Amino acid sequence: MKIGIILGSIREGRRGEQVAQWVHSIASKRDEAEFDIVDLKSFDLPLLTTATVPGAAKRKYDDPRVTAWGETIDSYDGFIFVTAEYNHSVPGAFKNAVDSLGPEWAGKTVAFVSYGADGGVRATEHWRQIVANFQMVGVRGTVALFNFMEFEDGALVPFERREAEAGVMLDQLIAATAKNLVPAV
Ligand SMILES: Cc1cc2nc3c(=O)[nH]c(=O)nc-3n(C[C@H](O)[C@H](O)[C@H](O)COP(=O)(O)O)c2cc1C
Repeated sequence: MKIGIILGSIREGRRGEQVAQWVHSIASKRDEAEFDIVDLKSFDLPLLTTATVPGAAKRKYDDPRVTAWGETIDSYDGFIFVTAEYNHSVPGAFKNAVDSLGPEWAGKTVAFVSYGADGGVRATEHWRQIVANFQMVGVRGTVALFNFMEFEDGALVPFERREAEAGVMLDQLIAATAKNLVPAV
């Protein structure tokens, strides 16, 4: 089982990098799955402007950067979205990256780790609506980190309880991924 931890912020000085590394450090202790950080920034994805809707493109994309992104997403059974909250919703570049593909997401599992002034929970709840369109299976367990209490001088110092919360999330994600509830396309 392979799980991709998607680092969805592409901003200079992004906090998401520390969050993704923290998630990876906890997830890597599990032996039921392999966990990798998938850094969206490294794909340098274009804004979606293609005439063909990605869901109808049969994995044939005009831009090699989208092809590389699609092949990467195809290689995972499930995901942890590490998401910031931008203006009470999901970050635009991350949404564009999800919109740029179709069948690569279909039927796969997803868990959410968010961060923001209020834990980024509005972004997570918006993601749940978005991924439903791919019949992705979202697990309930989440980690929501508070920007003003869990970062000290810019460094992530999560509350003690966060590791246990991440454990519950991982239990649910691993179990749902093993069940393979929705056939992939
Ligand atoms: C465009 C933009 C909009 C933001 N809107 C929100 C918001 O609605 N709620 C919130 O809690 N934080 C908001 N923030 C603050 C982010 O939570 C904070 O900057 C965080 O570090 C962003 O994640 P990143 O550094 O990984 O990109 C916003 C930041 C940006 C850049």
